[in-house]
Amino acid sequence: MSPRGEVRFRDFTWRPIGRRNAVIAGLDLTIEPGERVLLVGPSGAGKSTLLHGLVGALGATIAGDLTGSAEVDGRSGLLLQNPADAIVAERTGRDVAFGPENAGLPRDEIWARVDAALDAVGLTYGRDHFTAALSGGEQQRLALAGVLAMRPDVLLLDEPTSMLDPATAATVREAILASAGGRTLLVVEHRIEAWLPHVDRVVVLSADGQVVGDGTVSAFLAGPRPDGVWMPGAPTPPLLAVPDTLVRPADEALTVTATDVSVELVMRTMRGTQRTQALTELTARLAPGRVTGFTGPSGAGKSTALAVLGGLLAPTTGTVAPDLRRWRSPALAAAVGWVPQNPEHGLLTSTVVDEVRHTATRTGRTVDAGAVLDVFGLGHLASSNPYRLSGGEQRRLALAAALAHRPGVVLLDEPTVGQDPGTWAAVAGWIAASRDAGAAVGLSTHDADVGLDIEHGMSRGVMT
Ligand SMILES: Nc1ncnc2c1ncn2[C@@H]1O[C@H](COP(=O)(O)OP(=O)(O)OP(=O)(O)O)[C@@H](O)[C@H]1O
Ligand SMILES: [Mg+2]
Repeated sequence: MSPRGEVRFRDFTWRPIGRRNAVIAGLDLTIEPGERVLLVGPSGAGKSTLLHGLVGALGATIAGDLTGSAEVDGRSGLLLQNPADAIVAERTGRDVAFGPENAGLPRDEIWARVDAALDAVGLTYGRDHFTAALSGGEQQRLALAGVLAMRPDVLLLDEPTSMLDPATAATVREAILASAGGRTLLVVEHRIEAWLPHVDRVVVLSADGQVVGDGTVSAFLAGPRPDGVWMPGAPTPPLLAVPDTLVRPADEALTVTATDVSVELVMRTMRGTQRTQALTELTARLAPGRVTGFTGPSGAGKSTALAVLGGLLAPTTGTVAPDLRRWRSPALAAAVGWVPQNPEHGLLTSTVVDEVRHTATRTGRTVDAGAVLDVFGLGHLASSNPYRLSGGEQRRLALAAALAHRPGVVLLDEPTVGQDPGTWAAVAGWIAASRDAGAAVGLSTHDADVGLDIEHGMSRGVMT
């Protein structure tokens, strides 16, 4: 018997269904009990795949051929890359209690752990808040609370701070490190700088899923710069030059103005009503040739601001002009491209290339789908199923699918999350080229590198 907390891959090979080649081939890796390891590599390298292998999901819930082994000694807890996939209950307390309840812990112990875990991740709404009323970053913290409450021997965390602003990310990182104690920790992240002082070891995957670096943090920093990894102190990558023909609005862009808009979200269930003030007296304008940015901490109301401007959500008070909610859906789809924070929410078809053509076909516009996929680094995945992509790939597909028909109004919710430097340059390049071609761009982000004339800071639904 090896000690609790050891993690082992032996000749681990995985070929997902529908793929000609293995994503990971012949991988050998051992992590000692109590070691803290950062796993890095380009989008699509196979980082999440390794974590899924350790919890037994490959071949079981994810179809494909697995040979060799991936094992954890003791209990593992996995934080999924898409936090919405982890929510199981209507209320925050029950959601966090789900794991400890299944483990058959005594009731008092369960609720003590729930309260401690919610507190550790900085979710201050209490046990009875509706999970459906959480922002993307809050969902990410709720999912983490669920993992921490299990107190597993091995913590497997897939981009635990990717959707958080820097201050909230720091709080969450501290919570993870405090909860980790002497446990084994395997963290995947693209923005690694803040993690480096806290880990023992860095493992680097190449784009084709090979281990191309494995050693101490100082060896990693002194070594050759790996492809597709955000190295601390490296300059922001130059934006990809995206051809004007791919982004120039098919119809003239609109100016959209929100004046004194407040939004109260009301959720009703059998057991009561909950009101959340998501936006308070927002005044903002989307204009052709400009990027209007919304920044601010997790839960500040950034996504709500975009949804109101794009006619997806009605203001409770205040006005939006033009009122896009009154438009018929084909006209709205032609004029507005919206990329939701959870990229899965926009997916409609069964192949990547169909996804990119879909809105154009419906709106009678022509698109060069191959050229669009190439810009976003998805050309090799054209015939793949949109639901079977890595996190970063799926977000880029959501962008390609929402924007290929060249809408004049472009609304992007956290578009750069989960990208490596190369794919980031493509996403940021597309945004800049759209603006330069005359699109009216609304952007919610906590990515300081985007730097495209961010105008509106927000806090708790209020502009600052
Ligand atoms: N369920 C699936 N079925 C088939 N292929 C998949 C599936 N999930 C991921 N893949 C593919 O396997 C490869 C590795 O994906 P994985 O999700 O492990 O990448 P990753 O390194 O975590 O990337 P990211 O940084 O974008 O999250 C990618 O090429 C991806 O398209
Ligand atoms: Mg991943």
